Amino acid sequence: MADYILGIESSCDDTSAAVLRDGFLLSNVIASQQVHKDFGGVVPELASRAHEQNIVPVVSRALEQAGIGVKDLTAIAFTRGPGLLGSLLVGTSFAKAMGIALDIPIIMVNHLQGHILAGFVDQEGKDNRHPVFPYLCLLVSGGNSQIVRVDSPVEYTILGQTIDDAVGEAFDKCSKMMGLGYPGGPVIDRLAKEGDPRRFRFAKPHIPGLDYSFSGVKTSLLYFVRDEMAKDPLFIEKNKEDICASFQKTLVDILMDKLVKAARQTGIREVTIGGGVSANSGLRSRVEDEGKRRGWNVYLPEFKFTTDNAAMIAVAGWFRLKAGERTPLDVAPVSRIADY
Ligand code: KG4
Repeated sequence: MADYILGIESSCDDTSAAVLRDGFLLSNVIASQQVHKDFGGVVPELASRAHEQNIVPVVSRALEQAGIGVKDLTAIAFTRGPGLLGSLLVGTSFAKAMGIALDIPIIMVNHLQGHILAGFVDQEGKDNRHPVFPYLCLLVSGGNSQIVRVDSPVEYTILGQTIDDAVGEAFDKCSKMMGLGYPGGPVIDRLAKEGDPRRFRFAKPHIPGLDYSFSGVKTSLLYFVRDEMAKDPLFIEKNKEDICASFQKTLVDILMDKLVKAARQTGIREVTIGGGVSANSGLRSRVEDEGKRRGWNVYLPEFKFTTDNAAMIAVAGWFRLKAGERTPLDVAPVSRIADY
């Protein structure tokens, strides 16, 4: 009999529900919260309230689009963390209540594992290639920058990670410094396409091993902009495309240096990327180019799976269900998860 998994994602500011049949996507509904726009970042209290309003209609729509009823569900997978506690509480409580009402298992999922496994969601009309284990995932978002070795859907090793800021934060702070708005990544990506990536240089970190650091490059941009603006107050306005292209290139260079090193050290040639920053066009083309040059098999997530979504949570939960995992009903959400 087929497994019908309902996935629920509520870790930050997207309320999402998805239904998979044996890993095949039947629906993936996402309600993005607009209430944070005026604040330049996500306001946790507003996020949890918006999740409360969205969760019932989003789950109902996901079931409707999948063409199934609640009684058809085999299990409910939900994001336990990491994320905003109040937001996670909404999805976790909803999953528990539904699990009790339907008398079916609930499966907790680490949000980051969802991003790492996003490439396993099968879809109608797609080639549905999957990474082969073991593979490397460059996980890059607003909260994380890691290189993870994935030996199976339930076995992960962090090979390297940031010792300070995440790369998404560097994109967002660069945008803020230049008055370009939030979130910064998509704006910088767009402007970078029209700029010269070799025009300006920013300091790159020298961190041993496979770890990252992004605080120095951010400071380098801050001083550069401050000094240039003192000479010409219109400097940003006149040069924003070149600044964005150069800054983005620096961040992508930093990410790629360590990814190449990790592939060399482990001998693994299956490479994927995940998380919000994996939508970046500069990073995507560099990973593809390096892949061609070095004989990697590269798997880039579709754009709709780079941002937070419940399909990736459902697929991660399905793997755990098949591995025999069940989550007890006294589970509580957690804002931080140090390891996998
Ligand atoms: O995974 P994600 O949606 O959630 C959090 O970790 O919060 O990642 C959000 C991050 C933000 O920093 C955003 O600026 C960045 O992903 N991002 C991008 C792009 N799209 C989103 N960064 C660079 N280029 C993009 N196209």
